[in-house]
Amino acid sequence: MRRRPAAGARPAGPDPGAEVEILVNGRPVRALAGQSVAGALHQAGVDALRRNPVTGEPRGAFCGMGVCFECELIIDDVPGSRACMAHVRAGLRIDTEDHRGAG
Ligand code: FES
Repeated sequence: MRRRPAAGARPAGPDPGAEVEILVNGRPVRALAGQSVAGALHQAGVDALRRNPVTGEPRGAFCGMGVCFECELIIDDVPGSRACMAHVRAGLRIDTEDHRGAG
């Protein structure tokens, strides 16, 4: 049985590093294929990825290696995806918690 790749999995395509377009909160953003989603978002000026459920303070990537879960967001309709562990590919759709709250 063939396994389905995780959302944002590193592209198997031939062109890592190519400039591609992704959608961040519905807005087109240019990023590099294969770079981390966390890096692409930081480059695009999007650092608040979710809110602390108790204080409401904005949270963003901290460890950069999949341990802290501070970078959770929705990637291709998969909630709880970690931005630091996902990789950019053309057409990736990313939604942050702030965007979801905006209605
Ligand atoms: S930045 Fe820590 S899990 Fe992503």
